[in-house]
Amino acid sequence: VGGGDAAVIRRASAALPGASLGSFRLPDDLAFAVARGEAGCIWSTSGSRSVDWVMSCGALPLGHAHPEVVAAIEAQARRGASFYQLNEQAIELAEALVRIVPCAEMVKLCGSGSEAMFYALRIARAATGRDVVLKFAGSYLGAHDYGLHDLDQDGAVQTQSAGIPAGVTRDVLVAPFNDLKVAARLVREHGRRLAAIAVEPVQRAIEPAPGFLEGLRDLCDQSGAILVFDEVVTGSRLALGGAQEHYGVLPDLCALGKGLGGGLPLGAVAGRADLLELTAPRAIDTPTPNASTGAAPGPVYMSGSLNGNPLSCAAALATLRVLERDGGVVHLASVGRALRRGLESVAAELGVPLRMIGPDAFPEPVIGLGSATVTDLASYERRDQAASVAFGLELIRRGVFVFPGFKLYPATTHSNDDVDETIMAARGALTAIAG
Ligand SMILES: Cc1ncc(COP(=O)(O)O)c(C=O)c1O
Repeated sequence: VGGGDAAVIRRASAALPGASLGSFRLPDDLAFAVARGEAGCIWSTSGSRSVDWVMSCGALPLGHAHPEVVAAIEAQARRGASFYQLNEQAIELAEALVRIVPCAEMVKLCGSGSEAMFYALRIARAATGRDVVLKFAGSYLGAHDYGLHDLDQDGAVQTQSAGIPAGVTRDVLVAPFNDLKVAARLVREHGRRLAAIAVEPVQRAIEPAPGFLEGLRDLCDQSGAILVFDEVVTGSRLALGGAQEHYGVLPDLCALGKGLGGGLPLGAVAGRADLLELTAPRAIDTPTPNASTGAAPGPVYMSGSLNGNPLSCAAALATLRVLERDGGVVHLASVGRALRRGLESVAAELGVPLRMIGPDAFPEPVIGLGSATVTDLASYERRDQAASVAFGLELIRRGVFVFPGFKLYPATTHSNDDVDETIMAARGALTAIAG
């Protein structure tokens, strides 16, 4: 990665804003485009190999180009890529999710994690007849208007993107993560207007304090709000059935995405049948003289030309099959544990206060926190952000692809060599930033 990629980035920036596909953009001297990926590694268009801990932002639990996922996609592609109609792959995937995800009595498929959270909140508003959503400071619930809100310096709710209507902001409440007292106060004050509490059960890399998720469950039961778990990261990563299986707390609805599709675009809302049934359309009527005819969506509109796309569902089924068969979730965590141990030990040796926070399935290297407990955004922000990001950039310079200052995503196909190579690069990166 590096200088040889400059021409590609120049070319990309003419047609793609910021030569980026989203919100992630590397500095010019490190920017590159990917030519291909295999197992735990990617190769840039100029031929440089990097060990990949970004893994499509966590969407590849089996790593790149897993043979069984590739075979499933190829087989389905030959039978047709999309139908806008019920298909075998979609039915089989919905059945698998009902079996695997504890809250899932029914499932509705969509295109991404963001869409899944957007629809879950729409269903919650429809079911309760209320508008307000309570979320937590520092969480990311996807790219939709409700998700992109946080607290400003003065504790007021603010948007995190231009272009979000003020009316949406009026219906968003934000509490500190792991603070049941504040959440309970907000529920007391706004309970009659509260449609949903929406939470990442592990927020970024911050784990829930004992009793926190249970407390949110109680607050929803008392207020009639819908508990929505954003399991886009935790689903089939923390446990096959997600954080709800791991912590034993049942939401009313959950959003799935990322790893669900095994690298293909896919999201799902799963949960209580009475809630999911709100999205069920009415059958098209046979025309009769005085009756209205035509397609009739359910009370909650949830539809898309590519929903239940058989290619994505085939990739998802192959991914779930491999994860289930090979104890993949345990394997992911063991890769993460090896990485945690290696990075922490090389940092200790060099006298750099680096620590890996979060679960082994998606740990995050942070510098400068000492042994302080991280429970919420405020305690997380005490890290040395500049050093944490600089460490990530230095890793990229040394052939280890990470999202600087962000969590790492182990895959089952990361090899011991990938981990060793990362630890070796970390030695150089930590030496560089310490100097
Ligand atoms: C917790 C969480 N929810 C939702 C999303 C949105 O998913 P997607 O980017 O697939 O739309 C993300 C993506 O990073 C996420 O981390």
